[in-house]
Amino acid sequence: MAAMETEHDKTPQSLSAKFEGSFAYLTIRDRLPTILTKAVDAIHRNKNNFFEQHGEEGVNAEKRAISFLSKLRNELQTDKPVLPLTDEAEDTAAWNDYMQRQQDLMEDKQPVSWFKSPWLYVECYMYRRIQEALLLNPPISDFDVFKEAKTQSFFESQQAVISLCTYLRELLTSMDNIAENQLYDKFLEFLQVSLWGNKCDLSISAGQDNSQKTSPIDSLADLRRFMLVDDSDKVWSALMALQGSGGTEKRGARVDIILDNSGFELLTDLVLADFLISVGLAKEVRFHGKCFPWFVSDVTKEDFNWTIKQTMAFNHRQISACAVQWKRFLKEGVWSYQDHLFWTLPHEFCDMQADAADLYSTLQASDLILFKGDLNYRKLTGDRDWEHTVPFGRALRGFHPAPLCSLRTLKANVQVGLQPGQGEKLTSQELDWMTSGKYAVVQFFCPP
Ligand code: F6P
Ligand code: MG
Repeated sequence: MAAMETEHDKTPQSLSAKFEGSFAYLTIRDRLPTILTKAVDAIHRNKNNFFEQHGEEGVNAEKRAISFLSKLRNELQTDKPVLPLTDEAEDTAAWNDYMQRQQDLMEDKQPVSWFKSPWLYVECYMYRRIQEALLLNPPISDFDVFKEAKTQSFFESQQAVISLCTYLRELLTSMDNIAENQLYDKFLEFLQVSLWGNKCDLSISAGQDNSQKTSPIDSLADLRRFMLVDDSDKVWSALMALQGSGGTEKRGARVDIILDNSGFELLTDLVLADFLISVGLAKEVRFHGKCFPWFVSDVTKEDFNWTIKQTMAFNHRQISACAVQWKRFLKEGVWSYQDHLFWTLPHEFCDMQADAADLYSTLQASDLILFKGDLNYRKLTGDRDWEHTVPFGRALRGFHPAPLCSLRTLKANVQVGLQPGQGEKLTSQELDWMTSGKYAVVQFFCPP
């Protein structure tokens, strides 16, 4: 009798870092070392600051951290085995357990090495090793090697920030008696601005300027043709379902935004959250960020607070008005920020319920979870070699704490939920359509 096919059998392999000529191979060989070099440079450039703050101890820590990272770069470039973490942080055991899981999967029993591992795992691992370099070297353990790149990207997007904040504030002052279809149009605009804000991450450009220069609202019409899946109407319906009707008391939605990048993208997320609250589409927004610097530009608590502070300091009426409002939302608990170590583990999100049950149950209380960006998409879908037509819900493999939506520009070799033939057509026209950041999806799933 033929063995019954299980769900597990149908799950394709993880995208691997090992095959030559693939985007992943090029990334590992070329982009990751560049990022490590930039991290070394950032530490070195701050030598005098470390001396001023901590004296000789600071300078010695700088030297040790640099030597650690240089050794790491060599391990990566020469495909050495992946080493267990030696710091004693809260997540060290989880990382080392995960490494053991990878080792157990190796059929030839060879040690897990940089090029012979799932790409998602080694890429995450590199950022955790950068953190290890700092954790092992107090007193500079809190230093953020990517901070300068993040602040620069924020300032380089100034014009776009001004036009977006002005657009929002002017809209909110002229919104009395707005019809539902007009509100829907505005909702689409802010959702799409937040979507395209995801073009501005710094890990794809290895830390080079990738900022937004033009008015984001004006670009939307041109960008529409690059949206491969657009479930915006389902997101709208999920929010509207909580509005009550015919005199029922309005409950209003709780929206959770799983943040991705600082700089312009974070601004677009704050503006979207402001819009949702101000027009009554949501009653609460929770932002989720990373516990330590991650994938160059991802938001940490420090970046979140810095961004709000910078908007306060802007000498521009509409931006200040936004900042005052955002401070008020935070003070009143209408907005809140939280982080969790699960977001900086290499795990696919379908592991969350077992490996981070507290976070999973937090998300279960949400009415809508917005996952920003490419890395979150890779973790939602397990970074597997899926057929493009596999439904998004199936690729989630049981991860559905609440209705969820991915807002993602494509930068990695995974894409599901396309129409038959859509992926093939794109491949015949542009080989790099999945990695160029030119295309995007708004992909929604609601648990049955
Ligand atoms: O393209 C390089 C890369 O590091 C991907 O591996 C990763 O998924 C992506 O950049 C990060 O993009 P985002 O900031 O949108 O998650
Ligand atoms: Mg990112």
